[in-house]
Amino acid sequence: MTSTPPPPAARGTILTVTLNLALDVTYVTGDVDWDGVNRVRTVHRRAGGKGVNVARVLAALGHDVLVTGLAGGPNGEAAAADLAAAGLPAALTPIAAASRATLAVHDLGPVSAVPAPPLQTPGTAPAAGATPSGDGSGARAGAGAGGGIGAGDGDGRPVRHRTALFNEPGPLVTQTELEAFLRDYEARLERVAAVVISGSLPTGAPVGLYADLAARARARGVPAIVDADGEPLRHAPAGRPEIVKPNAEELARALAHEAPEGLRAPADRANPEDLANPEGAGRPRDRRGAAGSDGVGEALRGAAALRRSGAGAVVVSLGADGLLAVTREGSWRAVMPYRVEGNPTGAGDALVAGLALGLVEGTPWPERLRRAAALGAAAVAAPVAGDFDADVFRDVHPEIRVEPARA
Ligand SMILES: Nc1ncnc2c1ncn2[C@@H]1O[C@H](COP(=O)(O)OP(=O)(O)OP(=O)(O)O)[C@@H](O)[C@H]1O
Ligand SMILES: [Mg+2]
Repeated sequence: MTSTPPPPAARGTILTVTLNLALDVTYVTGDVDWDGVNRVRTVHRRAGGKGVNVARVLAALGHDVLVTGLAGGPNGEAAAADLAAAGLPAALTPIAAASRATLAVHDLGPVSAVPAPPLQTPGTAPAAGATPSGDGSGARAGAGAGGGIGAGDGDGRPVRHRTALFNEPGPLVTQTELEAFLRDYEARLERVAAVVISGSLPTGAPVGLYADLAARARARGVPAIVDADGEPLRHAPAGRPEIVKPNAEELARALAHEAPEGLRAPADRANPEDLANPEGAGRPRDRRGAAGSDGVGEALRGAAALRRSGAGAVVVSLGADGLLAVTREGSWRAVMPYRVEGNPTGAGDALVAGLALGLVEGTPWPERLRRAAALGAAAVAAPVAGDFDADVFRDVHPEIRVEPARA
């Protein structure tokens, strides 16, 4: 067992798919006045979307990546330029409509409390806060996502940082554009070791598209990992992806609604509360409750149901409570040694990056899960989604307990 991030090595490119690529814009402000004019202290613009975050983590670990997806309009151009500036290889399929922007307004409290120097440096990340990258469904705003206690307000009182996220809807994509993407995708499958398919679908894309992408990869001997929510997640197992990675809420939502043929869990194994109260789905759950004995059992049963419907393995992330995995080789639970404070947006993307790495390296499941969970925790400690804190990784990694789990 090692507690350092793996060294650079040529292990085959991991292709990431981000169909709803975004330009993530972060405004760092002193004190937002919702009725007045606000001065933005610092603006950050960078390519976003869950697959982009996954690729950033993998590239930081020295792994070869290729970012793919759909990009259009000025936002698409700016995102592509940012990927190039970050040294992330990308092959984006052009679309006529403009890629979405996502906006995070990061409010550092009263202007007098704002520490000026670190925030004025162009191109650096905000001191704390959420980037909206990924899709709206997974973003957590407010004190929960970007919140934190900042510098005093001048009278010695602590100031609570707040972050509000504004996610534009994705562009409308045409059938012709999707076909062009599929042609590009098929061609690239010949030369990659694994595929990571993450995030939301743009308007116009069929809900079964992730299942289709996973099936096409599988047909060429390339394992796929799917990290999605809602309909795309519910359909994904039909494409027999190697790994599906929902968080606890996403898994509950996937099983709460009428599922596609073959996906619904048998009545004796499914969670009766979810089946009885589908309208409750979509409301955020208290994630701290996820690891209670009921929550663990529910997640294990849900993961087993997704596996029966075609997924090779299902890894359910539980935030600070760690994760559960149901695989061909067995079921495990990874327990974090402590809660990391920071920005949880992007933790799942770092976890997925770790799973992808373990997949292409053939790392045994327990160690694969330990490293992936450590990357998730290390991502919480980094202010911007797609980054992780190497010191936190080294601290947390050896302390994560991975133990067999039973439903
Ligand atoms: N506060 C935390 N402290 C320690 N570890 C954490 C914390 N939050 C997340 N993790 C680790 O990161 C992993 C992924 O986190 P999480 O379950 O929040 O993903 P997610 O909901 O998919 O996030 P996102 O979609 O925003 O990237 C967890 O399984 C856990 O190992
Ligand atoms: Mg997620």
